[in-house]
Amino acid sequence: MAKLAVFASGTGSNFAAIADFLSRPEAQRHTIVCLVTDRLDAKVVSKAASRNIPVVAVRYISRAAAEDLIIQELEKYQPDLIALAGFMRILSTDFVDRYSTRILNIHPSLLPRHAGLNAIQQSYAAGDQELGITIHYVDHGLDSGPVLLQRCFARTSDDTEAKVERRIHKLEHEYYPQVIHKLLDDIDAERNSLDAKQFTRED
Ligand code: GAR
Repeated sequence: MAKLAVFASGTGSNFAAIADFLSRPEAQRHTIVCLVTDRLDAKVVSKAASRNIPVVAVRYISRAAAEDLIIQELEKYQPDLIALAGFMRILSTDFVDRYSTRILNIHPSLLPRHAGLNAIQQSYAAGDQELGITIHYVDHGLDSGPVLLQRCFARTSDDTEAKVERRIHKLEHEYYPQVIHKLLDDIDAERNSLDAKQFTRED
């Protein structure tokens, strides 16, 4: 079993897709231990509550104070992996270093194009002929870090921004849960092999 914390501030459609995927029989051994949000009024909060997933809500009076609180809470939940799913706060370098290589992000563009806010609108307005998503590890930059997966589609002549947005979300909901599931499986397998080694006697 491996434990996931999801950080989100918005509608929570990715959060719901991840939670639903992890409740499938083949993924049920992994758990979402908590949702971390900076917005108690965000729709994602009710999606967590209806699934009985604990919510850690932090007010960003200052980033340092908010992150101290998040760290305290994560000490309780001990996640193996953190997935940002529309968490609209930039994490400090100290925070990223603390959970180094264990934080993932999803972004609705083909990075490095259109990092930052409103990436779908930016991609559409720029006339990009290929649009898509990026799932990547988080480093100290804005929407940067080693890429785990990108998926794209070609723009069609009758695409509107709303259609493009729907296609992007469809890709996000299909691939982010799969990538997370695979990483949780890998973490679990590595832990089991370490446990097995501890009990191997050499006579
Ligand atoms: C998603 O499209 C995600 O890629 C984006 O926020 C949206 C959250 O939607 N993230 C970023 O732009 C990160 N820079 P959701 O709340 O419905 O999951």
